Formats: sequence, C-alpha cells, structure tokens
Amino acid sequence: MKIGVVGTGYVGLPTGVGLAELGNEVICIDKDENKISSLKAGKLTIFEDGLEDLFVKNVQNGRIRFTTSMQEGVENADIVILAVGTPPNPITKEADMKYIHAAAKELAQYINGYTVVAVKSTVPVNTGDSVEKIITEQHPKGEFDVVSLPEFLREGFAIHDFFNPDRIIVGANSTRAAQMIAKLYEPFAGKTKILYVHRRSSETIKYASNAFLAMKIQYINEMADFCEKSGADIYEVAQGMGLDSRIGNKFLNPGPGYGGFCFPKDTNAMAYMGRAYGVNLSLIEATIRGNDQRKINMADRILQTVKDIPEPKIAVWGTAFKGGTDDCRESPAMQIIQILLERGAKITVYDPQAMDNARKILGDSVAYAPDMYTAADEADVLAVLTEWEDFKTPDLQKLKSQLKTPKIIDLRHLINRETAQANGFEIFSLGIK
Ligand code: UGA
Repeated sequence: MKIGVVGTGYVGLPTGVGLAELGNEVICIDKDENKISSLKAGKLTIFEDGLEDLFVKNVQNGRIRFTTSMQEGVENADIVILAVGTPPNPITKEADMKYIHAAAKELAQYINGYTVVAVKSTVPVNTGDSVEKIITEQHPKGEFDVVSLPEFLREGFAIHDFFNPDRIIVGANSTRAAQMIAKLYEPFAGKTKILYVHRRSSETIKYASNAFLAMKIQYINEMADFCEKSGADIYEVAQGMGLDSRIGNKFLNPGPGYGGFCFPKDTNAMAYMGRAYGVNLSLIEATIRGNDQRKINMADRILQTVKDIPEPKIAVWGTAFKGGTDDCRESPAMQIIQILLERGAKITVYDPQAMDNARKILGDSVAYAPDMYTAADEADVLAVLTEWEDFKTPDLQKLKSQLKTPKIIDLRHLINRETAQANGFEIFSLGIK
C-alpha cells in the first residue's frame, strides 16, 4: 500500500520505517527542513533501538522516502497517518491540537481518490470528528474517512513493539475504512488481536490505558514507601502481587516517579477532559499529585544522606526518563536534579545516551562527566536515577575509590545491595528498610 506519514518524531519515524519493512511504500513528511535533509542524507534524527538497521535497509531498497512537501506525501497515498505532536497547553494541560488541525487543513487539498486519514497522535475524544470537519470544509468533494489508530509504542522499544503488539486498536466508523486498515495490518492477522471499535472508543482507549499504567506505577511507588516503613520488601511484594494474572507482573517496578513525554502529558489531558465533561476522575487526579510530589520526596531522600555537608557534591547516574532512550523530556531524573540544585547541591551527571539532551535543559548548572566513574569523582553520594544496564554491575572497588564517601542511593534497584554492602558501601534502595 502507499502510505504517507505526517510527522517524523518518536511515533512517526518508527511507524514509517516499520510499515516500509512490512512491504509498503512509505513517504514521511515533516515541515522541519533540517530533519528531512538529515533523514534524506541517511542520518537518523532520534535514537531508537533497532531502528537504524531497518531505516538503512528500507532507504536503500526505496520503500521509504522523506519530504517536506505535503502534496508529494498525500496525493498518491491510500492511507495518510497523522503522527504530529499534541503537546500540553502550558496552563490548562489539555492536549494542544494546533499541529493536528494544521496538518488536516493542509493535507485536505491533496486528497486524490479514496483516502483513509488515520490519526495516530494521542488526541482528545472527538478529534476524529474535528479532523473530518476540517477536511470536508477544505475539500468538500474529497473522498475520505478519518479513523483513530492509537499507537502503543514505548520509547526505546518502539521497533520491538511495532512488530510485536499486544493488540491493535482501530477506531473506524465506516466499513470501507476498516477494510483498508485490515489490509494494512494483514501481516498481523491471526497473531495479534485486532479490535475494531467506534472512533471515540479508540481515542479513549489510548488515554485510559496510559492513565491506568501511570496509576499502577504510582500505586507501587506508594507501596514501596509503605514497605520501607513496615519492614517488608517491595520487590517480594511486587513479585507476589504480579503472580495474580488479574494484576499482572508488568509495571510494578518502583522508581522516582513516571516521566517521559506520554504519561505526564496524557494523565493531565485525561484529567482535563474529565473536568470538561463534568466527570470526577479522582484516581487520575490523585495519581498526578502523587507523582509530582514523588520527585520532591526523592530529592529529599538524596539530601538526607548528605544532610551534614554544607555544599554537598552529588554524582548522578542517569538523566533520561527511563533506560533505553536519550529522551529527557519530563524526566524524573532531570526534575530531581533541578530540585537538588535549588537546594544548593553541586552535581555531576553521566548518562550513556542522553547527555546532549540533558545539556540542552541543564546548561552549565551541572558538570558533565565522560563516564560513570568520573561522575563519582570526589562525590559525597551517588544517586542512580535511570535504569541503564551499564549501571547494574559497576566495578564497586573502582567506584569506591572515586567517591569521597561510599554511599549509594539507588532509586531504580539496579545495584545488588548485599554485594554493595560487602564491598563497604552504605546503600539505600527504594522500598526496602
Ligand atoms: C508509554 C506507554 O508504555 C506506551 O504503551 C505508549 O505508547 C507511550 O507511552 C505513548 O503514549 O506514546 P513510554 O512513555 O515510552 O511509553 O514509557 P514507559 O516504558 O511506559 O515508561 C514510562 C515511565 O514510567 C518511565 O519514566 C518509567 O521509568 C516509568 N516506569 C515504568 C516505572 O517507574 N515503573 C514501571 O514499572 C514501569
């Protein structure tokens, strides 16, 4: 099939490359000329595990191309996928629809023959209706349908998730559009549950899923706090809970709070929608408050370990919002660093992938180390904030010789406590007394 993908960010690019790998002819469209010229030159604009090989392969075999021209990407397409950003409004936190609406307006004029416009961006309920209205106004004779096709790709695992989805949700209000999408997803038929629902249900499924997962994380984080006080071990508790198939064993890892560009944005947008519809979404509201407070609590915990030192030097491992990505947007690590700075700490950071992005946000307010051991040089405590594989089994003797005092505060439960203690470290792990 011929596919146009509008937007080449963390959703659009892996989706475009994945669809090309499935044998489709894909054109990715973006207004950002720098991005497009970089992609045309064979240089990826995001870091995503496994993306590069597939990108190079499909560029070489001509199944994926890049353009700044909406016309080029849309006029021959069977399906146009909208994967542009829906950033939060800074005041109300509702999803800002300006990019979606602008893209719909622009693409409308190039619709040529029956085209399915599939909204993959995370959008408020009823967006399908507004996109449909915009396209109709621009191109009254255009033959098209708008469907909701939410994405469930995790950053860092986008390629894995693209080819191994738990489910595919299709929100289509017309049989013709549903058939078109069925053709697109034919390679998954028989292997993955493809659920066809009303467009508004599909839009809601995306928010309801992300908000539920965020709530699950906030829940296990509260349980971790409880375990620390009560003497239980949160990892044993999570394992025991997870054996119940109704609960499931995923997303039960306590940490410094959820972050990234999805959960914080989507929980806030869902809460906004609840208020707009006059519905009390109290669990989501409490989740947001709890997650905001968590970053402050975590910074307090770190400062507690150096409370007698006037200008403590803190080594931080990890700035990305989670392991496997270079993304620092809404990263709990970054928020904790900022709180520590406000409280007078001196900080040196190291992240295996996210240093450039961290620098864009933190500027000269922290020092940047070339490796994890140098970051610990003369530090009063080491705080582990992002779950990178590299941090799991450090050379503890080397680390000890770098630190001023052998103290670790491990907010991701990466370093084995017994081994660290046997090597003379004082170590604090979340959720264990
Ligand atoms: C999330 C969803 O998992 C995807 O299904 C969805 O498609 C995506 O948002 C989106 O809406 O685009 P992502 O933001 O990449 O994906 O990150 P997750 O892997 O879900 O992690 C989110 C945050 O929760 C991270 O800060 C992570 O460290 C934290 N987390 C996750 C925990 O603290 N504990 C856990 O057990 C799991």
